[in-house]
Parts: sequence; C-alpha cells; structure tokens
Amino acid sequence: MEKIRWDQSFSVGVAKLDEQHSSIIDMINLLIENVEPDIRSEPISETLTRMTKYAEEHFEMEEQLLAQHAYPELLSHKEEHAVFCKKTAAFCLDTMSYKTSVPEEILLYLNDWWTNHILTIDMRYSSFFNERNIT
Ligand SMILES: [Fe+2]
Repeated sequence: MEKIRWDQSFSVGVAKLDEQHSSIIDMINLLIENVEPDIRSEPISETLTRMTKYAEEHFEMEEQLLAQHAYPELLSHKEEHAVFCKKTAAFCLDTMSYKTSVPEEILLYLNDWWTNHILTIDMRYSSFFNERNIT
C-alpha cells in the first residue's frame, strides 16, 4: 500500500493542528511500512493504540478550538470523530486479542478516513479560522 504523502494541500492553516495531523499520518505510514504478514503483532498493535490515543487527544483539542469560536458545523464534525474513535477502538481490540498483524482492511480504513477527513471535513474550518486570524 502507498504511504500517505503530506503536502501543502493537507494544511488547514493552523500550525498546531497541521503538526498533529502530520504526526498521525506518520504513525499510519509506520503501520503501512510494517504490514508484513510475518511481523510480530505486538509492536504493530502498540503503534495502532498509540495512534488512536494521539488521535483522541487531537480531536479534543480541535473540537475545543472549534467550540471556542462557535464553529457552526461543530456537532457534525464531532460526530465524524466519534465514528472514527468507535471504529478504531474495535480495531485495537481485534489486533490485541487475535495477536495477528494488522490486516489490510484496517490500513485501508485509516488511510481513507484520514485523507478524506483532513482534505474535506477539516478543510471546511480552514477558511473559518483564517478569517478570524487563527493560525
Ligand atoms: Fe477533524
């Protein structure tokens, strides 16, 4: 699977959020790099768990910032995050209990979800923050 390549099109224009998005993409790329069938499952499961925890912290910060500025689409945005959290919590449990390597299905989901989320859903608040000089 192709790794996700970070470029300017991913930038939402808020430095801290860009930094967090980029770290999340690094973790997903690490998973993509290591998805050999014979790889030990524990480090993979750890990376997946680390990414999930980091993503949750990131969502919290992003939502706080959106709430602070009364972003009109906050509720639907939070719902997107909640769906992701539920799905990845299930993935984490799966990889821990079955002790297998991360299946392609999980990587595809992570890859698709983050690319779409940043490039379409997050991008909607980009101009909103820009207009308010929040960088
Ligand atoms: Fe978001």
